[in-house]
Amino acid sequence: MELRGNWNYPTAIRFGAGRIAELPDACRSLGMGRPLLVTDPGLAALPMVARAAALCSKAGLHCAVFADVQPNPVEENVTRGVAAYLAGGHDGVIAFGGGSALDAAKAIALMVGQKRPLWDFEDREDWFTRVDVAGMAPVVAVPTTAGTGSEVGRASVITDVKDHTKKIIFHPRMLPAIVIGDPELTVGLPAHVTAATGMDALSHCLEAWCSPFYHPMAEGIAAEGMRLVRQWLPTAVHEGASIEARSHMLVASSMGATAFQKGLGAMHSLSHPCGANLNTHHGLTNAVVMPYVLVWNRRAIEGKMTRLAAYLGLARQSFDGFLDWVLELRRDIGIPDTLAEIGVHEQHAAAFAPQALADPSTGGNPQPMTEDDYRILYLNCIRGKL
Ligand SMILES: [Fe+2]
Repeated sequence: MELRGNWNYPTAIRFGAGRIAELPDACRSLGMGRPLLVTDPGLAALPMVARAAALCSKAGLHCAVFADVQPNPVEENVTRGVAAYLAGGHDGVIAFGGGSALDAAKAIALMVGQKRPLWDFEDREDWFTRVDVAGMAPVVAVPTTAGTGSEVGRASVITDVKDHTKKIIFHPRMLPAIVIGDPELTVGLPAHVTAATGMDALSHCLEAWCSPFYHPMAEGIAAEGMRLVRQWLPTAVHEGASIEARSHMLVASSMGATAFQKGLGAMHSLSHPCGANLNTHHGLTNAVVMPYVLVWNRRAIEGKMTRLAAYLGLARQSFDGFLDWVLELRRDIGIPDTLAEIGVHEQHAAAFAPQALADPSTGGNPQPMTEDDYRILYLNCIRGKL
């Protein structure tokens, strides 16, 4: 089967190997003549960014590159991007890269025509209605990792350096108008990044599946996303040149972000303070905490996990069968067992617990959480106590 298609939900997606060649056409169809390509400095040094910019120039577009985006992007990255956009007289944004670049790019596109500060658009109550929609720039998103799914998300996670929290900036129209899903762009990812980002996709599907809200459409997408991860993540990690594995993982990543409109949970609540304070890798952190959160939530999700294990075709169709698969997958692709191994230690547990409780993902955890629960759960993850 040719792994290629034009899809229209949750947005227009042009999927298939080599489709980066359609970038200029995608920009033009959104009315762009002078796109600003937003990426991170690591990617900006690679030929794929130069090639994407050259494709645009050859097609008569005036394309500039803005690459001042750090991992776990902060407000200053957005402010500088807005300044670059306005100074260059741009009329649209190409969001190009992994989660950090995509999130920064989407926030820049939101902010180019706003009068209020960024934090006024945090995902609280109806704050998104404060956005002047006419001031938003159109976005073509080009993911280069398979995990975040931010290319099909309606929000950006930006770190507020004042209180070291990750804040969600949300507007329904932050969903990029066009996505180019080209698995060839993910082929050069090192195995450990493939593993960590792939586990982020799994955590999106899994937390969406487990969240207690009623959303069967999201559950359907989450279940199939997890089936793709199970079948293809090990191959993507161990045989990085496999376009087949890279294709399925790129789709699974978009599926995870589509599904988590249903909610996330304690994996993300625990992970966000680690990223905001210690700059740990988001997907890797989720991967480390995953089994501990599953065990913590066991009573609330046991029936659901049995159903999921059956869909995935696991040998033991039970909660324990699923847990064993997660542990085996983590071992196979080189994920550490404990948070201590990625620099989160016992002295952080008490400080991070209130931040985890305040994280918006907490609302989707199947088991209600308290600050003390989070402190204990952090300690379990740090000490390796399942
Ligand atoms: Fe995530």
